[in-house]
Amino acid sequence: MNGRVVNVGLCGFGVVGQGVVDHLERKREMLRDQLGVEVVVARVAVRNPSKSRDIAIDVARVTDDALSVAVDPELDIVCELMGGTDKAREVTLEALKAGKIVVTANKALLCDHGKELLAVAQEFGGHLLFEASVAGGIPVIKAIREGLVVNEFSSIRGILNGTCNYILTRMTNEGASYQDILVEAKELGYAEADESLDVDGIDAAHKAVVLAYLAYGKWVDFDAVRLQGIKEVRQEDIRYAKDNGYSVKLIAMVDREREGSALRVSVLPTLMPKETPLGSVDGVFNAVSIQGDVVGETVYIGPGAGRDATASAVISDVVDAVKLLILGGPEGRFPFLDPAPRNGKRIEVARADEIESRYYVRLVVRDQPGVMAEIASILASHSVSLASVNQKEVGEDAERVSLIITTHATTEAAVSEAVAELGELAAVEERPFLMPIGDAS
Ligand code: HSE
Repeated sequence: MNGRVVNVGLCGFGVVGQGVVDHLERKREMLRDQLGVEVVVARVAVRNPSKSRDIAIDVARVTDDALSVAVDPELDIVCELMGGTDKAREVTLEALKAGKIVVTANKALLCDHGKELLAVAQEFGGHLLFEASVAGGIPVIKAIREGLVVNEFSSIRGILNGTCNYILTRMTNEGASYQDILVEAKELGYAEADESLDVDGIDAAHKAVVLAYLAYGKWVDFDAVRLQGIKEVRQEDIRYAKDNGYSVKLIAMVDREREGSALRVSVLPTLMPKETPLGSVDGVFNAVSIQGDVVGETVYIGPGAGRDATASAVISDVVDAVKLLILGGPEGRFPFLDPAPRNGKRIEVARADEIESRYYVRLVVRDQPGVMAEIASILASHSVSLASVNQKEVGEDAERVSLIITTHATTEAAVSEAVAELGELAAVEERPFLMPIGDAS
């Protein structure tokens, strides 16, 4: 630390990076009063220095060499806001090896390399802070690490992707298709540069892996996450939800029923009862519901994506980093604090197909005699019990009709096998669509 100045370097100056600079500047005095030091963005690495941006920055501070920012001895804190995992990993590793405190919003980086990065932070006396990586502006990482520290968790459920929630909400309210709304989500700065990360559920799965690590001390392999995005959600599904007291949400679930049972992580479009907190959170908002054994259920709701929400979370980490520097005194650093001290080594990860739920199945079938009997027989042969069957009356000439079935509780393995077999029937005209039905409690 240089006297009363803490120098921060930014690697990446896109939507979030510009938001961080903007708000650090606007709140300069307030932060100085609170912290007793001046927080200065001393260097910024950008991919294209000549590109014009909404937030101007002194050219003398700008470079296209992110690695030079990572190891700059004048910097105390490095914010990795580049996205991606290859260059971002290299930059983060170099900064940590140089003993910096690194702040990142990069959930993909954490999911793929979090274990390695935290080990390097510990080895070199640095820190890795990542509040902005999950649920945008909601301080959910702090909640799990600090506020809920005495709890053991039976489940965490969340709406963790603002873009998907924004798209599903507008599909519900306006009947629009997801492609049209996605264009707007991009313009609003919610969507990832590669939007498939959002709509295929990958971004939410990265975040679920980070939450699972925080809550259980276990890095779950991304491939072990049962994952489906929102691309196949149709207006028929949305209508069914509306007519039956549900809403369609992309729900991340991390749970372990009890000590000794396996840890399950999934991200799936889900019919959520409208009266539950997660069923009623709309737009770009995220929501996280956490069941702790001491506190019971706590629910966190707030903006999950976008420049200002994410900048708010990044700056909270920058402020924590400044406090760690202050606590470490003029010479040293505050010792590495393990973000997930729970030892998850002995926790098994459940096979995805063991997940048990009630299910919703949408089939597009030929409207002819015997079809329903065939479907019922296949479901019965997999011990899947029908709870309801819905078919809207169509005219005499209509050749196809949507058939919506809900089931009683069954394993995903049983319902998936049954649905795969249904998809083979000559009378079934499109790939069946399946989603779990969430509980009211
Ligand atoms: N694309 C992400 C979202 C941004 O929509 O939630 C925040 O991580």
